[in-house]
Amino acid sequence: MRDGPGADDLADQFRRFAAGAGRDGATRYARICEGVASDETLLELVAGAPPDQRRPNILLAAVHFLLLSGVDDPLAACYPTVLAWRDEDPGSARPPGAADPFALFAAFCSRHRRAVAQLVATRATQTNEVGRCTAIFPALSAVASRVDTPIAVVDLGASAGLNLLFDRYAYDYGDGLVGTASPVVLRCELRGGAHRPPPAELPAVAARVGIDRRPVDVRDDDQALWLLACQWPDHLDRFEGASRALSLARSMSDPPVVRRGDAVEDLAPVVATLPADAHLCVLHSWMAAYLTTQEQRALADAVSHVASTRPVSWIFAEAPYEVPGLPMPPARGGKVRGATAVVLVDQAPGLEPGVRRLADMHAHGRWLHWYGTGD
Ligand SMILES: C[S@@+](CC[C@H](N)C(=O)[O-])C[C@H]1O[C@@H](n2cnc3c(N)ncnc32)[C@H](O)[C@@H]1O
Repeated sequence: MRDGPGADDLADQFRRFAAGAGRDGATRYARICEGVASDETLLELVAGAPPDQRRPNILLAAVHFLLLSGVDDPLAACYPTVLAWRDEDPGSARPPGAADPFALFAAFCSRHRRAVAQLVATRATQTNEVGRCTAIFPALSAVASRVDTPIAVVDLGASAGLNLLFDRYAYDYGDGLVGTASPVVLRCELRGGAHRPPPAELPAVAARVGIDRRPVDVRDDDQALWLLACQWPDHLDRFEGASRALSLARSMSDPPVVRRGDAVEDLAPVVATLPADAHLCVLHSWMAAYLTTQEQRALADAVSHVASTRPVSWIFAEAPYEVPGLPMPPARGGKVRGATAVVLVDQAPGLEPGVRRLADMHAHGRWLHWYGTGD
């Protein structure tokens, strides 16, 4: 094995992943990962990944990718996503209890070992969760309603840029559709009935751009399919949301540009390319979790630096326990268990920053507890 997690650590990772997947309703991946944890041959396959990718997701995504690419194998019948992708009924997928997904998974890896090993050795897992737009849309709508100009949005860690298309989706918060008529319909349960519903006015957007250290080019078939393969077969709704959003982006003559770069280093130069008369919104969702505490502080400094020259609304959706380096007001009305916090920091030259907790949300946007700006 190369440097990086040893076989025991990897086996533990698979056991922990199985427990988490089980809690998240991903029964197939839970069963598969329990099996991989005790299978030396499969652990050896994962050990062929670059050190920072030696995790369960890389093996799972490699297998999912080959199935989505059209490899014919009995395992396909266990994955609702693969059936849907092949225009077959996802409801006919074999339930995890009716077939042993691990036995089929292990057989697949044995039959296609070279192809799996090649993907594991050369790819990096990547996700873009459009469900998060159920919080991003009202947050940007709230900011836009308080300014007189269109907004310019920079999404840090934008991945494929799908969340920059927040105003091209329809939203169902349980009381009819809002947003835009769209093939992408994002459903979200509103919690905390005492609070006002989230704003749903479409903001005027003057410019939108993403920065990512590993941007996904939506027009590249291989990159787009890999992005989908990193979704979980048990979560068909998320897969379908991502695949519809990808199709929408791919059908556009000008899909959002995501520049290769670093969120901290490249923020100011990218902002310099945006219209000066638009209201700047700096956005990130589940990106700062991948930065060290020191890098998170550097990000806050980079936003403040930009705010020394123009007003900025900094909006982020991040898990509080992952971002000790970012400003984090307490949840309103008590702690919401397991929530991703949606925070708005308003900054302008010469003014004290205003920090608000706009909402708490499910990490993938399944529910939203909207507090609002308090205006
Ligand atoms: C979990 S994904 C979230 C993607 C997207 N924001 C979303 O909510 O679906 C994290 C993203 O952050 C990017 N990323 C991590 N560290 C970064 C950095 N220092 N600069 C730019 N992008 C970064 C990763 O490449 C990845 O695309």
